[in-house]
Amino acid sequence: MSLPALEQMLKDRMGLDAASIGRSSVERAVKERMAACAIRSFEAYSQRVHHSHSEMQELIEAIVVPETWFFRDREAFSALAKRVENNELRLSPPGSLRILSVPCSSGEEPYTIAMTLQECGLPSTCYRIDAVDISSRALAQAAMAVYGSNAFRGTELDFRETYFSRTTAGWRLNDTVRASVHFQQNNILAPGFMPGEALYDIVFCRNLLIYFDRPTQERVVMTLRRLLKPQGILFVGSSETGLLITLGFVLEKIPQAYALRLPGEPASVSPRAPERHKPVPPGASKKVMPVSRAQPAAVPPRPSEKKPIPPSLPPSPKHDRIAEAMRLADQGRLHEATDICESYVQEHGVSAQSCHLMGLLSKTAGREHEAIAYFRKALYLDSQHSEAMSHLALLLEKQGDDAGAKVLRNRLRRLSGTSASGQGDACR
Ligand SMILES: C[S@@+](CC[C@H](N)C(=O)[O-])C[C@H]1O[C@@H](n2cnc3c(N)ncnc32)[C@H](O)[C@@H]1O
Repeated sequence: MSLPALEQMLKDRMGLDAASIGRSSVERAVKERMAACAIRSFEAYSQRVHHSHSEMQELIEAIVVPETWFFRDREAFSALAKRVENNELRLSPPGSLRILSVPCSSGEEPYTIAMTLQECGLPSTCYRIDAVDISSRALAQAAMAVYGSNAFRGTELDFRETYFSRTTAGWRLNDTVRASVHFQQNNILAPGFMPGEALYDIVFCRNLLIYFDRPTQERVVMTLRRLLKPQGILFVGSSETGLLITLGFVLEKIPQAYALRLPGEPASVSPRAPERHKPVPPGASKKVMPVSRAQPAAVPPRPSEKKPIPPSLPPSPKHDRIAEAMRLADQGRLHEATDICESYVQEHGVSAQSCHLMGLLSKTAGREHEAIAYFRKALYLDSQHSEAMSHLALLLEKQGDDAGAKVLRNRLRRLSGTSASGQGDACR
């Protein structure tokens, strides 16, 4: 057995598509575990993983990407707060808001949900937050709830003073917020994941699907559908919205929130409660648009198919819009640039071009891991996308993956004699 056999075992067990994080990362994790087990050949190590549940878990721990932070993509929490404050969630029975965060990594996401609900003035008896991850190491950190500076990014950090106390080990989250999140270890690919669980009003499944290949993504989305109430809301990562749209979900028009719902159900709006004068949640922006009334697509298009542009709309000047998005990004107006890119994805479907643009936006915003995932996706969709290749090479180099960067540069050199895809030309 060789490295590809181990990659296949990881895919079968946890869904990981080795290409999504780079084969060199997989190789590094495998070699780290081989050294820890004092095993020298891939074959012997594959046998160990095959027969030992605990070694498989150790390998998973070595390979997962636990990257997360408080109020990551904060507009999602803003959207949640808005719905709660305006009483827009149809809860049955009333006061029984159920939220799932999967994967929750080391707890920053579900704890952010809890802080948001507290800021809305919702008593903790009115909601339940479940949080699930495959990594026991990440969950142990979540249970400890003591965080270093990496968990606090950006400049809007008022919430830290409110909910954390400084200790020698780091910032410790207060007990009230901790007690409102119920953690469990589980694998979203496990057969019958969370069986018999009451359905959720809201599911956060952010930054997981990007690590899976298409069949695994579809399997996981089926599971999410099963867990979500018909009128429930699904929050995903920015680069994952296109996939959900192609699988029949409808995007809520809330900029930067990446919120979707199932088709066939009107948005979950009940008569508005009288306006409450609560403070805006920490990190929540007031810029929340009305709920979308967009009709679902009757038949979800196949992955490779682009969504047709409605005949009533003039054909989109694609490159102008990409150029416009890039211009806005260059001016630091990343939200507006991302909005244009998202509407581009809605009209044209996920493409190498849109992934490349999202990669550039993520890179400009300093989110390098996300940018790498986008550029990889662009190359997955168009193996000759020279600009994505070149940006990816630069980022890999920056991260110390010289071998990965070299492979890409060689590919670029081979392409330079031929006409490269040219798709990114308008993005310069
Ligand atoms: C990048 S983090 C995302 C955390 C959080 N949702 C966010 O967006 O900040 C990805 C997490 O997915 C978890 N994970 C990977 N495969 C999984 C699986 N098959 N089932 C459950 N969790 C998984 C990893 O352990 C890791 O903590």
